[in-house]
Amino acid sequence: MKKIVVDGLKYKYPLSEALALQDISFEIEEGEFIGIIGKNSVGKSTLCQALVGLVPHFYKGAYGGKVLVDGLEVRNHSIADISRKVGMVFQNPFTQVTGSKMTVYEEIAFGLENSGLPREEMRQRIDEVLRLMRIEHVKDHSPFDLSGGQMQRMAIASIMAMKPDILVLDEPTSQLDPAGSEEVFQAIQDFSQQGITVIMAEHKMEKIAQYCNRVLLLHEGRLVDFDTAEKIFSREDLKDYGVTAPVYTRVCRALGVKKQGCDGYPVTLEDAELALRRSFA
Ligand SMILES: Nc1ncnc2c1ncn2[C@@H]1O[C@H](COP(=O)(O)OP(=O)(O)OP(=O)(O)O)[C@@H](O)[C@H]1O
Ligand SMILES: [Mg+2]
Repeated sequence: MKKIVVDGLKYKYPLSEALALQDISFEIEEGEFIGIIGKNSVGKSTLCQALVGLVPHFYKGAYGGKVLVDGLEVRNHSIADISRKVGMVFQNPFTQVTGSKMTVYEEIAFGLENSGLPREEMRQRIDEVLRLMRIEHVKDHSPFDLSGGQMQRMAIASIMAMKPDILVLDEPTSQLDPAGSEEVFQAIQDFSQQGITVIMAEHKMEKIAQYCNRVLLLHEGRLVDFDTAEKIFSREDLKDYGVTAPVYTRVCRALGVKKQGCDGYPVTLEDAELALRRSFA
């Protein structure tokens, strides 16, 4: 089933000359884990915001084409309606904090309070996401006493607690160290394996390769390609888009070792190891 359909989307911020998104079309099936990549300022965050309705409802500006989320046309529905289906984690976790809650626990509870859930279910969900995001030990702290990494975990926990059908994440681990990032990606993957559709803008190509089943490459507001990580990272012209393939892909390309049964180069450590062992056997 198609969870997201984007058809001829064009968008320009108010007071801006250039289009931030130019004639973008793609479709995402239920349960996919999609990566959005591209260098700085190509429109990754803008596209994420178009999937949750902040573009155009919050930012205004000039808008053309269609975005359908679970059958709802974003342009014709309020952000409140759309947010029942889609949860978004922002690039800067500070943007996400309400600023009105005394503790991390209350901050996470905030989104659930208007959902009409029974208290006990709310408590269970909050305990679960605190555990998943490994922030149980700071649940009674003020959100503003957290480190950047803890704040990012709290922002993700708040959205996960709502159990949206679709999760949009804009560079969700920018404040985290490598071990912390890995933990958070694993938690997002668990979520995706429960059938949730995940769309994630990210600069860490090794992570994109490891977790995403398809990758959408953006450049200057245009969609360049939307395909498997192997296809995208094996493109000869990748450098023209300011993107560096995972190190495993670059090594295998230098050695001319392709992934078995596939026209591209390996993109993960496991696949590179397999391909290299076979080729040197
Ligand atoms: N609120 C805004 N008002 C006007 N222009 C904006 C606004 N937000 C972003 N832009 C412009 O839109 C274009 C796309 O920006 P966007 O933030 O979507 O890029 P990005 O790919 O997410 O970049 P990054 O990798 O740095 O996060 C840029 O030219 C940017 O300057
Ligand atoms: Mg961005």
